[in-house]
Amino acid sequence: MERTIAIIKPDAVKGAHIGEIIAAIEAEGLAIEAMEFMRLSAAQARGFYSVHEGKHFFDRLIEYMTSGPIVALVLAGEEAIPRWRTLMGPTNPEQAAPETLRGRFGQSLTFNAVHGSDAPETAAYEMSYLFGGRHLNGLRA
Ligand code: CMP
Repeated sequence: MERTIAIIKPDAVKGAHIGEIIAAIEAEGLAIEAMEFMRLSAAQARGFYSVHEGKHFFDRLIEYMTSGPIVALVLAGEEAIPRWRTLMGPTNPEQAAPETLRGRFGQSLTFNAVHGSDAPETAAYEMSYLFGGRHLNGLRA
């Protein structure tokens, strides 16, 4: 059993793709253990993406991630991290297969519709960063 963070990013929320993305998660058989509609402040977005601080795209990324509300989810299942990453497709939508979420909804390397944790340690950091302990409320027995 593994857990991962999924984010439906501001461009996908604005584009009215929340339902289609959640449907893809459910069709893949990943369990949704927590889900929250939220708006990140600039400080929260910088902290969430602190590994990218100093990179040339960082300011653009923060501006994008604070440009509107997001939907943050905790997904759980066997191999949840690689399965969610496969469903998303590669970071750059131009390289993403058309059936992946970034292939369907991503517009550019920055505006790429969804986020997923890249490793168990990152998932733990991102879960506690976005949900505190609140995601534990929805845990199955
Ligand atoms: P994500 O998977 O959320 O992780 C970091 C985000 O930064 C990434 O998706 C993109 O939205 C953005 N990003 C990553 N690399 C670049 C890049 N080279 N240029 C612009 N934006 C990027």
